[in-house]
Amino acid sequence: TNPSRPVVLIAEKLASSVLDVLGDEVEIRHVDGTDRPALLAAVAEADALLVRSATKVDAEVLNAGNRLKVVARAGVGLDNVEVPAATQRGVMVVNAPTSNIVSAAEHAIALLLAVARRVPAADASLRAGEWKRSAFTGVEINGKTVGVVGLGKIGQLVATRLAAFGAKLIAYDPYVAPARAAQLGIELVSLDELLERADAISIHLPKTPETKGLIGAEQLAKVKQGVLIVNAARGGLIDESALAEAVREGRVGGAGVDVFEAEPTTSSPLFELPNVVVTPHLGASTAEAQDRAGTDVAESVLLALRGDFVPDA
Ligand code: MLT
Repeated sequence: TNPSRPVVLIAEKLASSVLDVLGDEVEIRHVDGTDRPALLAAVAEADALLVRSATKVDAEVLNAGNRLKVVARAGVGLDNVEVPAATQRGVMVVNAPTSNIVSAAEHAIALLLAVARRVPAADASLRAGEWKRSAFTGVEINGKTVGVVGLGKIGQLVATRLAAFGAKLIAYDPYVAPARAAQLGIELVSLDELLERADAISIHLPKTPETKGLIGAEQLAKVKQGVLIVNAARGGLIDESALAEAVREGRVGGAGVDVFEAEPTTSSPLFELPNVVVTPHLGASTAEAQDRAGTDVAESVLLALRGDFVPDA
């Protein structure tokens, strides 16, 4: 082994494509990124740090990593990485911004259909020895107005796929060009109008100080009775207890939730509600998305360690 090889520290379970791409140009080490003392000790010797969403890469980790040149996020969201703190220390931050967008979009749609047709509840009931049909009457997506909050890459994929279901698409996104929305056949509206008109709402925003709590009790008071809501973006964009309350009251007819205010979690007021379908942050968890995320970040890490230009994916 070459003792001068840069050390790449992998802090979470990543696809094997990471190792295939990194090859033997670097020395690979592993650590559990949620074990803080272990992470702080291991990062001190690392030239690169690879994470998914569970490892918090904050100023403390960056300070401990005094040899760090690059932090790579095998996914899209950078809310677990303190990017300004990294930039200040000259540490490059890379992600894989397109790796899992299709998977995220497909998961949001899976949740929407699961809620609309009560798939998990009906499955549980049948397995429990009941043959109940009328109890699980659902609703169609065809002909409904679906409101997409956040019309970025994932929001657009969700919208175009739901158009094929016969839905009418409206969206709220202050940053998207009206011409782009029109090209996709999507009507841009204000958040209030979206809340008032949508039969189903799917959120596709990054978590930032501006978007946190965007949909709380006040917004949920404006929705159409029985609206279905999906959040496969980030926990906390919709206030979890306000959503649970709205479902309990029946104002919100059902919800599909993949992400939570605190993760990991095994308790939420949403878990007690039969009209809510939950998954443990699985939006990006497909073989294809993980393989792509691994390849994309490993390529960027090699470029960064060689001191080469790292293009945007
Ligand atoms: C993302 O931001 O890309 C997702 O949260 C991915 C993940 O689960 O790692």
